[in-house]
Amino acid sequence: MTLRLGDIAPDFTQESTEGPISLHSWAGSSWVLLFSHPADFTPVCTTELGFTAKLKDEFAKRNVKALAVSVDSLESHRGWISDIEDTQDVTLNFPILADADRKVATLYDMIHPNSLANLTVRTVFVIDPSRKIRLTLTYPASTGRNFQEILRVIDSLQLTDEYKVATPANWRNGDDVVIVPSLQEEEELKRRFPRGYRALRPYLRLTPQPNR
Ligand code: BEZ
Repeated sequence: MTLRLGDIAPDFTQESTEGPISLHSWAGSSWVLLFSHPADFTPVCTTELGFTAKLKDEFAKRNVKALAVSVDSLESHRGWISDIEDTQDVTLNFPILADADRKVATLYDMIHPNSLANLTVRTVFVIDPSRKIRLTLTYPASTGRNFQEILRVIDSLQLTDEYKVATPANWRNGDDVVIVPSLQEEEELKRRFPRGYRALRPYLRLTPQPNR
């Protein structure tokens, strides 16, 4: 099944390092970062999981729960976690799904056999509290993900949801944002953007980031 932005993230129940997880009930009212890894005891994956653990506070600030997928067994994950903790100097603070039967990997189309036979590539799904898929990314096995970019997109999505703004190219938290074109009513613009805006074109209006 092809999963697209705006689709409801398919629910599943799978074993994990923190007990069985049913995605929708586990997510509760949080956002979810569901991300796959090719295999346990591999170098790039080890750095990625360690770095994700280090971002615990950043994810908490944004109401995001991380959930890793790896198509190895629970026993293998347990051994790998101690390697991750030793080598990356962290305590792992989120679950890893033990997807040895590839239930989740298949449901989310995480195996791309022409790139990596039988193992998951590096997919990312950001799921919002209404269970909608808001971001998908796919990286090859050989490239570790940029987790600052993932946080940046989550910031952008959360701003859009709350303030009816979008974020321009290379936007970083604190930079000016753009007002969505559907907002045209002058009274509403004044109310939403009391610091005003600059219209470079009628469709290109910049305003200070509303929550800064
Ligand atoms: C890694 O995590 O380092 C890796 C996994 C599979 C293929 C290449 C690299």
